[in-house]
Amino acid sequence: MSKISQQARSDLHSMLTQADVHWIELDSVDSTNDYLARAYQQGRISGPAAVVAHMQTAGRGRAGRQWLAQPGAGLCLSLGLPLAGQQMPYLPLCVGVAVAQVLEQWRVPVQLKWPNDLLADQRKLGGVLCESFLTGQGAVTVVGVGLNIHAIDVPEALSGRGAASLSNYLSTPDLPSPREVAEAVVSSVLARIDAARVQGIDAIFTEFTQRDAWLHSQVQVEDQGAVCFAGEAMGIDRQGSYLVNTDQGLRAVHAGDLSLRARP
Ligand code: ATP
Ligand code: BTN
Repeated sequence: MSKISQQARSDLHSMLTQADVHWIELDSVDSTNDYLARAYQQGRISGPAAVVAHMQTAGRGRAGRQWLAQPGAGLCLSLGLPLAGQQMPYLPLCVGVAVAQVLEQWRVPVQLKWPNDLLADQRKLGGVLCESFLTGQGAVTVVGVGLNIHAIDVPEALSGRGAASLSNYLSTPDLPSPREVAEAVVSSVLARIDAARVQGIDAIFTEFTQRDAWLHSQVQVEDQGAVCFAGEAMGIDRQGSYLVNTDQGLRAVHAGDLSLRARP
C-alpha cells in the first residue's frame, strides 16, 4: 500500500479534493472503518484515504449496533482525514448534508435524523459513523457512510419503520454503482468541510434544518431503548445539539449515545 503525499495530509487549512485521496477497493472486510483505523495506526497509510468494500462482515453503526449490507447491494465507504474529532464536533451533521446533496441530484427525497441517520419517507436509507483517534502521525478522523442502493430487509430499523433504498426511487438502469456513489460522496464531503472552514458552520446548520426529518413533530429521547424525556422536536442549536421542548422546558440533547425517536 502506497504512502500518500505528506503535503496532502498536512492539515485541513486548504481544501482537499478527490485528487488528494488515495482509493482502496476491497472485496470483503470486517468494517471499512476498522480497516482504515488499523491501516493508520499501523502506519500502512497516511493522508486522506477512502476505502470502498463490496461487502462487510461486521459493519457497525453507533454504539456497537450492527450495520447490514448484502454483497454489492449498498455503499460501504470510509474516508480517513487528518482531523481531530474536537476540531469538527458537528462533522456527522456536515456529512449527512453532503450525502443528502448528492442523493438529491438523483431526485431521492432525503431527510436527516439527528445526529447520524439518512431517511427517505421516514425509513432508514443510510447512516454516518465518524470515529477519531490518535496515530503516531497525528489525529485522524474516519468518516463511515453506509447507504442502501438495492433493497434490503431490515424490519427493525428505526423502531420498526424499516429500511429504504435508492431502488425505491430509481429504476434499475438508473441506479448508480457503489463506486459512483462513493466518489460523489467523497467530493461532496470534502466540499462541505471546506465550506465550513471558510464560511463557518451556519450554512451547514441551515442545510441540516431544511432536511430535519422530525422538526416540530413529537419525539422522545431514548438511552438504549429507555425513554428519558419527550416533547416537540425544535431542531439543532448552534452547538449542533438537538433541542426538545418538554413539559419542563427546552432540553438540549448532546450526541453521546442518546437516540431521537418519533413518539409512538
Ligand atoms: P440512532 O437514532 O441512535 O442513530 P439507530 O437505530 O439508527 O439509532 P444506529 O446505530 O444509527 O442506530 O444504526 C444501526 C441500526 O440501523 C441497527 O440497529 C438497525 O436497526 C439499522 N440498520 C442496520 N443495517 C441497516 C440497513 N442496511 N439499512 C437500514 N437500517 C439498518
Ligand atoms: C449508523 O446508522 O449508525 C451508521 C451506519 C454506518 C455504516 C457505515 S458502512 C461503512 C462504515 N463501516 C462501518 O462499519 N460502518 C460505516
